[in-house]
Amino acid sequence: MDLHQFSEWLSSTPLSQLIQVTTWAIPGIQTIHIISLALVFASALVFSLRIAGHGLASEPLHLLAARFTRAIWWLLLLLLLSGTLLIVAEPGRTITNPVFYAKMLMLAVVIAVTLWLSAVARRQFERPSGLHVFMAAVSILLWIGIMFAGRFIAYVESN
Ligand code: HEM
Repeated sequence: MDLHQFSEWLSSTPLSQLIQVTTWAIPGIQTIHIISLALVFASALVFSLRIAGHGLASEPLHLLAARFTRAIWWLLLLLLLSGTLLIVAEPGRTITNPVFYAKMLMLAVVIAVTLWLSAVARRQFERPSGLHVFMAAVSILLWIGIMFAGRFIAYVESN
């Protein structure tokens, strides 16, 4: 079974059919996706800025890192669930779309970077190095890239 056949099979499943015939379902799932990504970006921004020494300085870095990375993982779970439902609803838009895979690749990299920064922040307490600040900035660029790719999927022909 190739990706096209898989996509056709997926859109014929009862769950996909149900989402397709329920008018509010796709906008509803997209709203959950968008609220979650707004919150994940806000959390990532606070964490990265704190690593760079800007803002929320009254809270020790390791406590702040624990709090905000926990939020990031829970929100990513919501994004995964809502994103999966969007794929099931209209698989032809994503499964054969290279932009979708670029988004997933950036997501895998940003997860790895966030795990690393989180471990560093918990271990090193207060003084992140230039490399840590640089990687915090890279992570913000990756989140922006993921949001751009998420939106851009709709404008690129699936293969
Ligand atoms: C965790 C796994 C994720 C999956 C499986 C997923 C999947 C999807 C799917 C299928 C769409 C609909 C694309 C379309 O048909 O046009 C979408 C839209 C989008 N996604 Fe995700 N996504 C995930 C995570 C994320 C993350 C982490 C972000 C950003 C931080 C993000 C940002 C967006 C944006 C901005 C849109 C466009 C929303 C719209 O136009 O209504 N996604 N995603």
